[in-house]
Amino acid sequence: MSLTLALRGGDPSRVSTPLLAVALHSGGVFPRVLAALDKAYGGVLSRAVAQADFKGVRDESLLFIGSGRGPSRVLLVGLGENEDTYAAVTRAATLAGRKGNAMGVRKMAFWAPQLSGDTVEAAAFGLSRGSWDFMDYKTQPPAKDRPRPLVEAVVVATDARGSQASFAAGVALGEGQRIARRLQQLPGNVCTPEHFARTAREIGKRHKLRVSVMGRRDLKRLKMGSFLAVAQGTPQDPKLIVIEYRGGRRGDAPVALVGKGLCFDSGGISIKPAQGMELMKYDMSGAAGVLGAMDAIARMKLRVNVVGLIGSTTNMPSGTAMNPGDVVTAMNGKTIEILNTDAEGRLVLADVLAYSARFKPAAIIDAATLTGACVVALGNTATGVMGNDQSLVDEVLSAAKRGGEPGWPLPMWDEYRELIKGDIADIKNTGGRGAGTITAALFLAEFVPAGVPWVHLDIAGTAYSESDLVVIPKGPTGTPVRTFVEFVRGRAR
Ligand code: BES
Ligand code: MN
Ligand code: ZN
Repeated sequence: MSLTLALRGGDPSRVSTPLLAVALHSGGVFPRVLAALDKAYGGVLSRAVAQADFKGVRDESLLFIGSGRGPSRVLLVGLGENEDTYAAVTRAATLAGRKGNAMGVRKMAFWAPQLSGDTVEAAAFGLSRGSWDFMDYKTQPPAKDRPRPLVEAVVVATDARGSQASFAAGVALGEGQRIARRLQQLPGNVCTPEHFARTAREIGKRHKLRVSVMGRRDLKRLKMGSFLAVAQGTPQDPKLIVIEYRGGRRGDAPVALVGKGLCFDSGGISIKPAQGMELMKYDMSGAAGVLGAMDAIARMKLRVNVVGLIGSTTNMPSGTAMNPGDVVTAMNGKTIEILNTDAEGRLVLADVLAYSARFKPAAIIDAATLTGACVVALGNTATGVMGNDQSLVDEVLSAAKRGGEPGWPLPMWDEYRELIKGDIADIKNTGGRGAGTITAALFLAEFVPAGVPWVHLDIAGTAYSESDLVVIPKGPTGTPVRTFVEFVRGRAR
């Protein structure tokens, strides 16, 4: 369901809404500016705080039903202590959006102390994120007992006029993340490489961006033997998608955002076990992140040039599929020994990274659900971050933190490089069980255009959530949209 966000100022007690979410810090102090609202509620709000029925800790919430005056319902949500207000407001607004959506109210409003500028952005983004759901394939109950989806959320700010730009940024971030989560959640038989191409064209049309889509014939012409090896197992046409946003000066080198877009990864001939294989529809999350980020960047009109590159196909066992032992030649001329057909993401990205050279990028960031080893190392909490340039790694780590998608660095030492030396070719596509996330990144490094700073994000654990967490329901998270956008924002003039 799409959500309309609005921004207003004024006294929250005067907002006529079926649900007003009020975010409060911990510490037991009921804000004086809420006196009128408290009065309309017969003093129960301040009493709940005074008696510590509501403590204001992170992820806490408490619902009150009104008696006619002011908002029909008030939901207190906790902000916790006050170290990082941006993160705290994002989280509280996400929780509020999620509760509002579940409650069946069509409209809601959100208030937090001193909402202006950055925290307005956080509130708008959080409401959008929290209220996201995916009901496309659920048969609707009869109209009379159909839950009403949340369609409108209002941010009540202290300084509404001065916060317009921040509000717009929050909306853009929310929309970008929604695009990514939806693509992630769509099943593999719907979200095909063709569907990716169509979505890229839609985004391009919406923002007047140049989009080009290349298929199997073009990949052959470009000598992308590595990407083609993966795609040879499927009758679906693989797609190399390029989407160009030009918000910077004419000659400025662009930032390149690269995404792995495996619409389904069965493992190929090195087939995966049946248990949990359905999760491999999420193997296009890096590519979904690129499209979501391009949409958000264009909405925000950031003054920087950005090119998004996506390699999309599926990895299938078939009579035409690649086999273990096969040797292929990537676009940059390097030969690859394919030891395990399930290490397909790096084969696709090898050619996409090599192809990015023609844009002479200032920096490349790729995102890929690349290794199960990364899930073992960092779980669903942190993205693995590796690269060929320490200052770029640091820049990406801080963008990731700002976007609430924390990353953690892994070493790219030469010692690990030995593990992927080829027996009969230049390089092999697996380095054994140990340090699987690092050897995968070192493989990619071989295809990064010479002299270009590059960072790789292994989002295998962070792209989707295996458990129903307070602010992230089970399913797609939208990672790495925020990391991409925060990085590009940091580079904008
Ligand atoms: N898409 C998978 C990685 C993955 C695993 C993502 C679990 C999310 C959750 C990737 O293509 C893959 O299969 N990698 C192999 C590499 C191995 C064969 C060297 C893996 O991690 O097992
Ligand atoms: Mn695989
Ligand atoms: Zn994969």
